[in-house]
Amino acid sequence: MNNKPEYLSGFRNHHASEALPGALPEGQNSPQRCPYGLYAEQLTGSAFTAPRSHNLRSWLYRIRPSVAQSAYRPLARGQWATAPPHEPAADPNQMRWDPHPLPDIPTDFIDGLMTIAVNGDATAQTGCGVHVYAFNRDMTERFCYDADGELLIVPQQGAITLRSELGVLEVASGEIAVIPRGIKFQVRLAGGAEAARGYVCENYGSPFELPGLGPIGANGLANPRDFLSPEACYEDVTGEFELVAKFSGRLWATRLDHSPLDVVAWHGNYAPYKYDLARFNTLNTVSFDHPDPSIFTVLTSASDTPGMANIDFVIFPPRWMVAEHTFRPPYFHRNLMSEFMGLIHGAYDAKAEGFLPGGASLHNSMSPHGPDAETFEKATSAELAPQRLGDTLAFMFESRYVYQPTPAALDADFRQRGYVDVWAGLRSHFTPGQR
Ligand SMILES: [Fe+2]
Repeated sequence: MNNKPEYLSGFRNHHASEALPGALPEGQNSPQRCPYGLYAEQLTGSAFTAPRSHNLRSWLYRIRPSVAQSAYRPLARGQWATAPPHEPAADPNQMRWDPHPLPDIPTDFIDGLMTIAVNGDATAQTGCGVHVYAFNRDMTERFCYDADGELLIVPQQGAITLRSELGVLEVASGEIAVIPRGIKFQVRLAGGAEAARGYVCENYGSPFELPGLGPIGANGLANPRDFLSPEACYEDVTGEFELVAKFSGRLWATRLDHSPLDVVAWHGNYAPYKYDLARFNTLNTVSFDHPDPSIFTVLTSASDTPGMANIDFVIFPPRWMVAEHTFRPPYFHRNLMSEFMGLIHGAYDAKAEGFLPGGASLHNSMSPHGPDAETFEKATSAELAPQRLGDTLAFMFESRYVYQPTPAALDADFRQRGYVDVWAGLRSHFTPGQR
């Protein structure tokens, strides 16, 4: 396999890519005999009958078809949990976690993935799983695919290489990648990193897409041209391999006598993609007050109710703060939607301390949150001049469905007990005799 990733650009555009000249059949998808003796296999990520604008499929031309595998056996699921949980454990308390510790024994991406919370129902294709990962070992003889959802991967520390059926993506901290449902892949360390850590949103629902822009117009937020998909490359390798399937809330494994990354050519619009969050064209007020944080939506997964996302992937990127006579940090609020947040680097402007890169917070439906006491004091007494928030990159997985934290996350040593105390210093400033 070629180790140097090449990328095609465009969000869910139809692509065609071949690692050998002429490997793509001309003029039809499934000829009687494919070039180079390859097998044709269609991979469909939507219903066949989905509207054209949401129809997702790719044709893969591969050395062996995916059916060339033995029977699956159950694998221990480790710390990878799926909705619905056996015993729902959501409560209205605000929750926060320190960074997930890096492993001290050899651990790969699958074994190093720990679920923090889940919502919806994977088998009903609603909701998501929210995970953190930390690993220090490459997947070499092991591959994986996820039938329960697509995987939005947010590296926080350490670059990773995603080796997939459709090609290779290198993804650094500050970038994101999406592995669509069903696509086989491996995760490895990249760029000399000895360990990697990050977050994953396992989206059980409709695939992520770009949000509509309404009055913003044709440009702004995440622009389609900045989403990159891999070029075809393949390996023709035999040996002892394991393919792990995440299916219906459990992990399963089958033996393969060959690498499943054997797709020599593909065409279609169903492919992994990556995106550099620095390309996000951030829009915000240039007068006063705040737009709602939906102005920072990178990708959205629709639910059956218009306007109520299954999940929104939202970022809080570096930006200028220029609002006049305005309380500039995120306002105090209570929302219908439930919010899982993580921090990729720097500091988040609602919290003086305690929300660390690699850490996480969870504010479920209608649970109040906002700036801590120290941030409130500073923001209400600051001289308001244009201010650049340079070192910051937080994100949110915001969902209409209440997040159920897992027992492992609730009991984790790295959970911050007493998080609610960050608001304890917010005293009354009420002075009825003085406006
Ligand atoms: Fe919030």
